[in-house]
Amino acid sequence: MTGLAHPVAARPTLSDLVQGSPFVTYVYSYPHKTAHRPLPAPIPLDEVWAEERREALFLYFHVPFCRSRCGFCNLFSLAGPDGELIDGYIRQVRRQAERTIRVLKGARFARLAIGGGTPTLLSVDQLRWLLEIATNVLGARPHEIPVSVEASPVTVSGEKLALLREFGCDRLSLGVQSFDPRDSLALGRPQQEDEIRGAIELARRAGFPILNIDLIYGACGQNIARWRKTVEETLQYQPEEIYLYPLYVRPLTGLGGRGQSWDDLRLECYREARALLLDRGYRQVSFRMFLAPAATGEEGPVYCCQEDGMVGMGCGARSYTRRLHYSTPYAVPRSAVRGVLEEFVGRPAESFNQADHGIVMDAEDQRRRYTILSLLQVEGLSRVAYRQRFSTDVLDDLPALGELERIGLLEITGARLRLTAAGLERSDAIGPWLFSERVRRLMESYTWRTV
Ligand SMILES: C[S@@+](CC[C@H](N)C(=O)[O-])C[C@H]1O[C@@H](n2cnc3c(N)ncnc32)[C@H](O)[C@@H]1O
Ligand code: SF4
Repeated sequence: MTGLAHPVAARPTLSDLVQGSPFVTYVYSYPHKTAHRPLPAPIPLDEVWAEERREALFLYFHVPFCRSRCGFCNLFSLAGPDGELIDGYIRQVRRQAERTIRVLKGARFARLAIGGGTPTLLSVDQLRWLLEIATNVLGARPHEIPVSVEASPVTVSGEKLALLREFGCDRLSLGVQSFDPRDSLALGRPQQEDEIRGAIELARRAGFPILNIDLIYGACGQNIARWRKTVEETLQYQPEEIYLYPLYVRPLTGLGGRGQSWDDLRLECYREARALLLDRGYRQVSFRMFLAPAATGEEGPVYCCQEDGMVGMGCGARSYTRRLHYSTPYAVPRSAVRGVLEEFVGRPAESFNQADHGIVMDAEDQRRRYTILSLLQVEGLSRVAYRQRFSTDVLDDLPALGELERIGLLEITGARLRLTAAGLERSDAIGPWLFSERVRRLMESYTWRTV
């Protein structure tokens, strides 16, 4: 077990927000899993879900396996698993699903996502098995709701994509990262340019209504011209969505171990790509996400990520209700990921009747979560919706938001709070600035598992 300083250990000051690096940490959910702990006592799932709305839940399956480990990646995933481990894993996910649905009788799922790791590492039969757990055990109706699957170019095949389409998957998210072999190498991402192009063509032929392409900027040795070329190449395929990720080099990852310093061009890369995408008619949805001119985004039953619950299946998946977030423990190094996975596969089925690891959301963190997730979208936070949810005004609950307005990062009107353009490009600093002291302390004192 090793303790490693967390990038959000200290709250950034207002001057850090304006003059410091905009790249503190990516807040895609709140609180991060490093704020989860063993719960003082396990809580039965029927208690966890007793007072929750069940008509618009998000169903998420985590596939914690990849062909190889990319140098930048700190997601919960094991590289090069054997087929037997994957089979044992899916068998256990089925048991977990059977237990979960007994508690969640009558649940309706408004979204289904399969992420990882790399779901398309699974064989066609394994993928079918997983999808059947979603439909036959949990009762999801993939043809009536948005269904998204993550994929890496080297693992897709025409047969796998055809299966996903047949099951109603309408969004494929492909991790391209870069079209430039020098950048892929610098990122520690083993892939060839023709594999990327082949995968995009297969996705188009399979007819996914939404193709998302992930790109990463800021690799060592990358310059603005080279980055711009990757974005131009991406645009030739007219993806319905593009995610632009600034590179984060984190401890315990391949790149983190190299201790290399590099010219930090990330802000310039962001501005260059943003201007290019807006010029081509793309609409910015958040710091990272852009939607094509004709794309409408997901259509389907309303699901509100700030308010509706998440049911996570598998090891590494998080589940949440308004009052409790729970998951299996988090890990990054190979031996620790393997350890957590083996514990998951070996669990007795009845252990899935309860939550034993996570964080109880107090009133402050419920409000902060709502605020962070709303503010980090271009659309911003509706004060009316906030008041409906909490019966208070967001500016009374978080008066510090007024400071963001004063330094030009936030616009406040009677109806909405919205980041300005300067605020939006500082999303990865504003998000952690809004963490509660409790969550910051938990993240700071998190002990990284190494075995
Ligand atoms: C689960 S992966 C996508 C699916 C698939 N595993 C793949 O890599 O193609 C999610 C995305 O997060 C981004 N990402 C992950 N770690 C990152 C890091 N340290 N810095 C920047 N982007 C990162 C990458 O763009 C990646 O495609
Ligand atoms: S970036 Fe994707 S393929 Fe690479 S290790 Fe992470 S999850 Fe796996």
